[in-house]
Amino acid sequence: MIVLKTEKEIAHMAENAEILRDILVELALKAAPGVTTAELDRLAERRIREAGAKSAFKGYTDELHRRPYPAVICASLNDEVVHGIPSEERVLREGDVLSIDLGFVRKGYYADAAITVGIGEVSGEAERMMAVAREALKRAIGLATIGRRLSDLSHIISATVREAGYYVVKEYTGHGIGRELHEDPRVLNFGAPGRGPVLRAGMVFCIEPMVKGDDLPLRTREDGWTAVTRTGSLSVHYEEMVAVTPEGPRVLTGWIWEEYCRKKTLSVCAAK
Ligand code: MF3
Ligand code: CO
Repeated sequence: MIVLKTEKEIAHMAENAEILRDILVELALKAAPGVTTAELDRLAERRIREAGAKSAFKGYTDELHRRPYPAVICASLNDEVVHGIPSEERVLREGDVLSIDLGFVRKGYYADAAITVGIGEVSGEAERMMAVAREALKRAIGLATIGRRLSDLSHIISATVREAGYYVVKEYTGHGIGRELHEDPRVLNFGAPGRGPVLRAGMVFCIEPMVKGDDLPLRTREDGWTAVTRTGSLSVHYEEMVAVTPEGPRVLTGWIWEEYCRKKTLSVCAAK
C-alpha cells in the first residue's frame, strides 16, 4: 500500500531531508586521503544526535541479513556496491571511489540519501561512471510527475546506464519513504516503461540507481552485509528523496551532488 503524504508532512520531510543532505555533504567533504571510514561514521553519529534524530541504519535487520547493521553510515569503496561497514582499518586513499549512504528518523519521519565521491584524483573511468549514474537519477527525477507510471522512471535509469555501456544493480531498489524507512512502492532501476502504479500527488520516494561495469549478480562478503561486484568492477550509488507534487517533482534532498560541488572547488564539478 502506498501511503500518500499531506503537504504538511512533505514540508516536514523536506526539513529532515535538508538536514540529511547537509550532513552527507559534510561527510563527503571530509572524505580525503588518510581519513578512515570509522571517523566518517562517528561524525555522522554526532551530527544525527545534534539534529535530534536517530540512525535509521544502526540495528537495522531484514530477512536478507543475519545480523543487525552495526553502523550509522554505509561506506562502500570501489567494488563495494552498498552496505560497506565503516572500519578503523579502512583508510581512504587517493583514487578511491567512496559511496556514503545515510538514513535517520526525526520527529516520526525517515530520511535516506546517498552520494558517491572520488577521493583526490580518480580515474577518468570512475568520473564517467559517476556522471552517468547522476544523469540517470536526474532523468528519473524529471519523470516523477502526476499521471506518469512508476516504471517509466525505472526504465529511463537502465536505458541511460546501458547507453553509456554500464549496468544497473538489480538486487537493490529505491523505495517509498515516510513513517517507515522502506515503504511501497519499490522503485526498480530497470524494467519496461508504462507499468506499475500511476504517480499521484503526495507520493514520496527514494530513487537510488547503483551502477557497475558488469552484469553479474552481486556477492555478499563474510561480514554478512557488504555487497560487492563479482568481477571487482567499480560501482557507484546516488540516492535522493523526491515528492510528487502538483508543481512537479520536488527533490526534498535538494540535489546533493550540486550542494557538494558548491562547497568544493573540483574540476569535475566545474566541467558540469
Ligand atoms: N539506502 C539503503 C536502503 O534504502 C540503506 C540501507 S542500510 C541498512 O535500504 F543498514 F539499513 F540496511
Ligand atoms: Co534507500
